[in-house]
Amino acid sequence: MKNLIVYFSKSGNNKFLADKLASALDAPIEVLYPKGFNMLFFLLNLNFGIKPIQNKLHDFDRIILVGPVMMGRFIPPLKAFVTKYKSEIKQLVFVTCCGSGDEVKMEKFGHGHVFNDLETLLGNKLEFSEALPVGLTLSPEQKSNSDAIMKVRLDEANFSGAIAQRFDNLVARLI
Ligand SMILES: Cc1cc2nc3c(=O)[nH]c(=O)nc-3n(C[C@H](O)[C@H](O)[C@H](O)COP(=O)(O)O)c2cc1C
Repeated sequence: MKNLIVYFSKSGNNKFLADKLASALDAPIEVLYPKGFNMLFFLLNLNFGIKPIQNKLHDFDRIILVGPVMMGRFIPPLKAFVTKYKSEIKQLVFVTCCGSGDEVKMEKFGHGHVFNDLETLLGNKLEFSEALPVGLTLSPEQKSNSDAIMKVRLDEANFSGAIAQRFDNLVARLI
């Protein structure tokens, strides 16, 4: 199966994850460049689209889209990619390194809403969605501390234990 990793990352966690996936699956990788993305536009929910991508999506059996969840939303660059290229996408898997854990995924800012939005957008082109919440890197005492969650930056040192296990399971599902 020919995979292409496509990602957007603001503070590096999803870049780290996308690089890991590209290496585990021996797949090419492409970064999304939003047109005029900044936090103000984002908070106002303004979407100016993305710059054209370099790869030809028709050449790939599966796109693995990687990016964060913010304000409980499918963020503009990711949504712009799916909307713009939907007709060229054969199958898509969405992977997010997000702040919300499994237990709060259907709460206001939970990643479950984004998974549902994607299903609505892509229908049966969506193979599945998977979350690797940053809280998986934290101790049980810190897991529900929102400051600690927002400060996590994935690196080789903290990518171990529960998050590494979830990553390995994901890779096994994708091979
Ligand atoms: C402004 C802002 C809003 C966020 N909102 C959410 C949210 O609603 N739900 C969530 O699960 N995580 C939320 N997060 C956490 C990010 O998804 C998490 O830190 C992610 O790993 C950042 O990815 P990046 O480093 O690739 O940009 C938010 C982070 C920021 C900076």
